[in-house]
Formats: sequence, structure tokens, C-alpha cells
Amino acid sequence: MKRAILMTGDRPTGQMHLGHYVGSLKNRFAMQKDYRCFFMIADYQALTTHSDRSSDLEGYIREMVLDYLAAGFDPERSVCFLQSQVPQLAELTAIFGNLVTLPRLMRNPTIKQEIEEMGVNKRPTFGFVGYPVSQAADIVLFRPECVPMGEDQRPHMELAQEVAARFNGIYGEVFPIPEGVYGERMVGTDGRRKMSKSYGNAISLTDAPEVVEAKVGGMVTDPGRVRRSVPGRPELCSVFAYYRAFAAEQEDAVAADCRAAAVGCTDCKAGLAGVLNTFLEPFQERRAEFEKQPGLVRDILNLGGSTARIEGQRTLEQVKEVMGLRYESLLG
Ligand code: TRP
Repeated sequence: MKRAILMTGDRPTGQMHLGHYVGSLKNRFAMQKDYRCFFMIADYQALTTHSDRSSDLEGYIREMVLDYLAAGFDPERSVCFLQSQVPQLAELTAIFGNLVTLPRLMRNPTIKQEIEEMGVNKRPTFGFVGYPVSQAADIVLFRPECVPMGEDQRPHMELAQEVAARFNGIYGEVFPIPEGVYGERMVGTDGRRKMSKSYGNAISLTDAPEVVEAKVGGMVTDPGRVRRSVPGRPELCSVFAYYRAFAAEQEDAVAADCRAAAVGCTDCKAGLAGVLNTFLEPFQERRAEFEKQPGLVRDILNLGGSTARIEGQRTLEQVKEVMGLRYESLLG
């Protein structure tokens, strides 16, 4: 039986962190047994924020493939490739650009927020405002039924569904409409709702034990618990959110001790640092093993790139066919 298809991607803009793990890596690699998976490293999309640092991407990409492997990516079952290895993605982006209006792009709440975070000195580029169009091409080119992604990607998924439906309506049914599967969000060490490298509130998957201890030590707890003797409210504490995500079996005991002021925040944090390091240690060991294998990353990407290109070309030919862009009388 043909396996259903799963597609997702990440920008290679820095180290992967616990937020990536909880929000997406964990689920997506578990799904490899049921789906034919395409994992894309979005190097062109990374240029929308890193065009002045393009030569950093090579190193980030290598780190990302190693993180994938250590988190459970199975190169025997699944495909991992770079966006730039599949020119059909750029071609489909060129076509989709005409099916989306500028006002529609400017209404995207994730884009709005990202523009706000740029500050007043930076103006959004054409590539930046349009990256959801390119992402719509990423999402549909491989004709997946399932696209696991972070909650912040929901507006991009909705755009992809709209564009695919519009394309199908105008030219003919080429694209199945994919469904987003949204992962939970991990709070940052500063208590902000989202962990992100650019906020400086992330614990990386490659952080050493002492770094984890220091970051956890600086985490924000219930602001109302001003003294050790004051009962805490776990629901307002970011340390508790991490227990929930990484040590569900301790969740009830930790919450009870906090509410009863039986354990102080310092001890509670020390316990969490232990939990996280126990989680990260085997991850980092696996990663170190993969890192030692010469040519591993290169082989994965070369093989993945050619598989993705073949699949991409198949869809693109159908796209051109239904649009009347095969030009057989001119080229055939
Ligand atoms: N925008 C995603 C991120 O910032 C990366 C991405 C690019 C993606 N293309 C995609 C995610 C397609 C899912 C599907 O992490």
C-alpha cells in the first residue's frame, strides 16, 4: 500500500532547541513509520532574514542534519534535502505569486508580527513579505496530506491551502489540500510564550550541562512567589511547563510541592536541570556518533535532493500541463 505523504521544514538559522524538539521534531520523527516523509531545510527562506549572512548557512545546515539524526530522523525511510536543491520549488513560487494579492499577504498575522519585531530601521523586502508564497510551494509540491508545524506557522498553512484551492479551481485538480498538524509551543526561559533563538530565551539541544544549569537557574517562576514560604502557582511558572513537557511522571508531585511551598524554586530548578540534562545526554551522545561518520550528511543530502527533485519535477510537469505551459507546438 502506498504510504501517505508528510512534508515539513525548518530554516537553518542557528542551533535547534528544546522548543523545536517539543513543538515538532519529536512528533515528526515518530510519524516516519506511517508516512513517506520529506524533511526540507529551507535555506532560501533563511535568506529572508539572513541575506547578509548567507555564508553562515552551510554550517547551520550541517548542524541541523546532525540534530535531525540524533532526534530520530531515519535516512533509510525518509528524505532530507535542501530547498535550493529543488529548483521546481522556485518555479512553483513564481507561478503561485500570481494567485495571491499583496493585501492578502500583508494580513498574515505572523508576517505582521515579524515585521514589528524588525523594528523601525529595517524595511521588509519583497522576499520577506512573499516568503509565505514560497512556503505554499514547499508545502504542496510533494502533495502531502500531512504537514506538522509550529502553531505560528498556521497562517502560512492557511495561505497554502487557499493558493492550492485557487490553482485547482482555475486550472484543474493538481494539488490535494494538505492539513496542518500543529505542535505545542514551549515557553522560553524568560517566560515568553515562544522559545526562539532570536529572543535569547532558548536551551539548545547541544547545550552542555553547566549551560543548561545556568539557563534554568535564570528561569522565570511564578512572580507572586516572592519568598520560599509563599505557596506557588505552577500554572504561572515556566519551570513547571518544562517539567510537564520533559518529565510528565513528576508533574503532579512537582505541582503539589509548589502549591504547598514544600519545595523552593531553587531546588525545583535544580531538579529540572537534572531532568533536561538526562534528556539531552543520550541525544548529544547519538549526535557525536553521527558527527564522526565521514560523508554521512553529504550522502543524505545528495540522495534526498535527487529524490525530492524527481518528485518535484513530476508535479511541475502536471502544473505546466494543466496551465497550457508545455508549449508543445513551440518546443516539442
Ligand atoms: N517557516 C518554517 C520555519 O520558520 C520553515 C518552512 C519552510 C516550512 N517551508 C516549510 C515548514 C514548509 C513547514 C512546511 O521554521
